[in-house]
Amino acid sequence: MARILPDVSRTFAEYLLLPGLTRQEHVPRNVSLAAPMAAFKRGDGTPAGRFHLNVPVVSASMQAVSGVDMATALARQGGLAFVFCSQSIEDQAAMIARVKAHKAGFVRSDTTIHPSSTLRQLLAVQKRTGHSTAAVTEDGTNAGKFLGIITDKDFWEYEDNLDTPVSDHMTPLEKVIHGRVGISLAEANRLLHRHKKECLPVLELDGRLNSLVFKKDYVDHMNNPHELLDADKRLAVGAGINTHDYKERVPALVAAGVDALAFDSSDGYSEFQHDAALWIREKYGDKVVVGGGNVVSAEGFRYLAEDAKLDFVKVGIGGGSICITREQKGIGRGQASALMDVVKARDELYERTGRYVPICSDGGLANDTQVIIALAMGADFVMMGRYFAMTAESPTPKVSIGNRIYKPYWGEGSNRARNWQRYSEDGGEAGNGKLKFEEGVDGYVPVVGTVPEVLGVTLAKLRATMCNLGSLNLSEFSDNATLTMVSEQSIVEGGTSNIIRPETTFGDRE
Ligand code: IMP
Repeated sequence: MARILPDVSRTFAEYLLLPGLTRQEHVPRNVSLAAPMAAFKRGDGTPAGRFHLNVPVVSASMQAVSGVDMATALARQGGLAFVFCSQSIEDQAAMIARVKAHKAGFVRSDTTIHPSSTLRQLLAVQKRTGHSTAAVTEDGTNAGKFLGIITDKDFWEYEDNLDTPVSDHMTPLEKVIHGRVGISLAEANRLLHRHKKECLPVLELDGRLNSLVFKKDYVDHMNNPHELLDADKRLAVGAGINTHDYKERVPALVAAGVDALAFDSSDGYSEFQHDAALWIREKYGDKVVVGGGNVVSAEGFRYLAEDAKLDFVKVGIGGGSICITREQKGIGRGQASALMDVVKARDELYERTGRYVPICSDGGLANDTQVIIALAMGADFVMMGRYFAMTAESPTPKVSIGNRIYKPYWGEGSNRARNWQRYSEDGGEAGNGKLKFEEGVDGYVPVVGTVPEVLGVTLAKLRATMCNLGSLNLSEFSDNATLTMVSEQSIVEGGTSNIIRPETTFGDRE
């Protein structure tokens, strides 16, 4: 006979936090938002483990959310994007490589030109890479003998003869301030500062180009103190993977420099995911961070965390804003109930084995409060799709509808994404390219601002609430959290009452 759980499925909107004692030191500037993403053993330098986020937020592996611009913007804020896997292996690996080209410090030049190339050819290269500074080398490669530098300030596109060679317009080596290999980043930045330059080429002893150091990167770094970087000071980036082509996809992503992988599946409690996870672990050991899911029960979590040895587990089925899995297939669970069950299983696993497997609350976070409640309930970090689809950095074009600006947003299980490896014809994992039913919808979301703008507000609220609860880091926050369930009437009470608000009176927000 079927088992019926005694409790009803609860959602985040049904809970509120009670403040704890706020001491003098509990001020936002003292709060750390670092969150583990890789599993770690007790005593292994916790809480960071092998890999950690500087802010507890990642973007969903979705076509309408996580491309190169999102990955760059989110890593700059201390989070991580999971570049979507519903595309060819080559295209996804190329996206990862483009994010990894953003290195704080020494950059391998991707805009290099031969001295006899024309200005017209240079313009084409600059357009392709989006970079205005090009190194001129004897053989036109980024490891060739360095001859000079040319930027868009050295010629006028509509005045100069575009058929003249680059060598006529470049600043030649003898006039270029440059460094030698071995120079420290601090020295390189000092040279840029002293000579009022934008770019410092670093040369090998035999005169070949090694790398470039940009003033812009220094400024970026100073503006983004939480930037999430790898050991080589390159921006960190994640990638979605599936249980079908992982034997080809994962090696290509690892070669491109990916920092964390996550299986993208609506139901991850499966042998397909287990076998794929163990294959990756066998091949790469602890070098690659691999997460999976999604699950909504303690059993599902234990299977993926213990048997499949995953680094983190995503929780959530059916809560996503574009998700119709619950109505199509009848599977899912209220996100708060699912999360609390899995948090208990994570803590029990840690007690029993000393292995801590972080949890990601994925999907259905409708506002900043719900992000805060999810973290208070014990999620180590959250994954969001709609939230990021609404930003300037999502990969979709803006469209004007009525008198507002929107962006399209669609589920990975919608016909539009045709992610056949995730949502197969029979709803299982054995995809054949055709969808008999959809698990996601296709719609529009309003444009709200840039990633730094919206995330800045969300994280400011999170830090403030953490101070209300007397906590300086996320594990203290969930340890200190006392939650209460709310009645429908108390939700009404929580809104404003008996005042006139312009947007409701004049209706210009609809
Ligand atoms: P959101 O933040 O509420 O928009 O939810 C994003 C999450 O929804 C993703 O991280 C996925 O777990 C999930 N998701 C993405 N596409 C689909 C779909 O087509 N159907 C069901 N769930 C989806």
